[in-house]
Amino acid sequence: MKKPPIQNRTRLKPMIKFILVSTSFCAITLSFSVLLLAATKIVNKVDQSPLHFSDPTTLNHLVFAIASSGKSWPRRNEYTKLWWNHNNGMRGCVFVDNLPDNDTNSNSNSSSLLPPLCVSEDTSKFRYTYHRPGGLRSAIRVARVVKEIVALNHSDVRWYVFGDDDTVFLSENLVKILSKYDHRLWYYVGANTEMYEQAQYFGFGMAFGGGGFAISAPLAKVLAKVFDSCIERYHHLYGSDSRVYSCISELGISLTHEPGFHQVDLRGNIFGLLAAHPLTPLISLHHPETTDPIFPNMTQIRAYQHLFEAVEFDSQRVLQQTVCYDNRYSWTVSVSWGYTVQVFHNNMPLPEALKVLKTFRQWKKGKSSAIAGLFNLNTREVDPDPCKRPSVFYLDKVSYGNNKDFIISSYKKSFQNCSHDMPTMKLEVIKVVTNKLDLDIKQLQSPRRHCCDVLPSRTGDMMEVAIRECKDEELIYMH
Ligand SMILES: *[C@@H]1O[C@H](CO)[C@@H](O)[C@H](O)[C@H]1NC(C)=O
Ligand SMILES: *[C@@H]1O[C@H](CO)[C@@H](O)[C@H](O)[C@H]1NC(C)=O
Ligand SMILES: *[C@@H]1O[C@H](CO)[C@@H](O)[C@H](O)[C@H]1NC(C)=O
Ligand SMILES: *[C@@H]1O[C@H](CO)[C@@H](O)[C@H](O)[C@H]1NC(C)=O
Repeated sequence: MKKPPIQNRTRLKPMIKFILVSTSFCAITLSFSVLLLAATKIVNKVDQSPLHFSDPTTLNHLVFAIASSGKSWPRRNEYTKLWWNHNNGMRGCVFVDNLPDNDTNSNSNSSSLLPPLCVSEDTSKFRYTYHRPGGLRSAIRVARVVKEIVALNHSDVRWYVFGDDDTVFLSENLVKILSKYDHRLWYYVGANTEMYEQAQYFGFGMAFGGGGFAISAPLAKVLAKVFDSCIERYHHLYGSDSRVYSCISELGISLTHEPGFHQVDLRGNIFGLLAAHPLTPLISLHHPETTDPIFPNMTQIRAYQHLFEAVEFDSQRVLQQTVCYDNRYSWTVSVSWGYTVQVFHNNMPLPEALKVLKTFRQWKKGKSSAIAGLFNLNTREVDPDPCKRPSVFYLDKVSYGNNKDFIISSYKKSFQNCSHDMPTMKLEVIKVVTNKLDLDIKQLQSPRRHCCDVLPSRTGDMMEVAIRECKDEELIYMH
């Protein structure tokens, strides 16, 4: 990311030779380049500004469309409350079929905590012919949100963001990721599912709706104009996201994959997924009600609130995985910031530590086909011997150090079902020291994992780990 690697410099000589040999082509190449340049100029005339970096994308440029229903909203708005903040300039609507009996929004105390409700238009004239059990015609209403949100004529919109009422967004990270892209172009940004079977059926190129996705404003405007004709043509499909995907495909646009969106088509304990997040800011999590609470001994909603205590301190660092090695004890320490620290009692090479521990189950119940239960993830099995599993520490609390110069997050050991003494037996608390992460555009485009050090300051039951940027030629392994 910084200096060019050494190999590039040593390769310079042969390149000079090549230029000399190919001088005879220069005349042709030159005139061709002039033509190319002229063409580029015409294209650029539309907007000469190099990109929008001088005028960065903020939360105020986003408009959210949340798919819900009168029935599910009173229960699920707990999850929207986690991340919605009207006072930050958030705009958007929660689309419902009808207003809930108990309209929690009319309560003035919570009006700034939740987006307004919008009642969807009548979609009964559209056909819904999905032939297998489980299909719901509300898929049409939910898909049509992409048209109805544009029709609200919000001003100065760069991106429309879509999610379900059980999608939990990290809005600061979402803005960061979207700011990488030129919003004046056509973009469809999101992620696939964790399940191979679903991806095979619905499409590897589809942004799954529960993980949420974003459509740049110019694409959304065109999509809104043509969308009803697509709904007619795709009456046989199952879900709303399939309808949006099909229509965007017909416009010739494919998915820009951003792995920070998470559909979470998983059941049980998603610890493994959260402990080995890809090297990109966490944007969303889905299905909070159908997975186990993400922290032990808490309800689902309380566990999410706990994670958001870390989000408040350093949104961009949440779940970022950093691995370091304590060669005194041959321990491998893997930090998923704001969530967990795992201490392995052996040397685990980095590529192994980055694999997702399979603590969860597939989404679909039963084994319906040969490909059921396959994940689109590099997984590692949980060791059947509890004594061979790592010691796991969960986030306890986060605080500032001196004058807010740094952030200290501390993690408490959780119960380990092993009858004999573990090497980490005495260790109860791990403290992780970090700076606040604020990724610039280059770091977003070319991310690099951070390094960490186990500090020698270990006292009794406490170990300290400091996270920092790696040095240019630094390698992450057991020395
Ligand atoms: C309406 O709200 C009240 C108070 O929060 C609650 O007791 C009641 O069960 C709710 N009714 C429905 C139909 O959700
Ligand atoms: C949005 O703008 C269109 C075209 O100008 C207009 O027909 C429509 O009524 C507007 N909708 C709202 C909600 O203001
Ligand atoms: C769970 O929480 C309860 C109440 O806060 C506490 O008494 C109990 O010790 C906790 N259990 C574990 C395993 O942390
Ligand atoms: C501990 O592990 C044993 C054997 O692996 C298992 O039978 C038992 O249910 C576990 N107990 C708890 C509390 O997890």
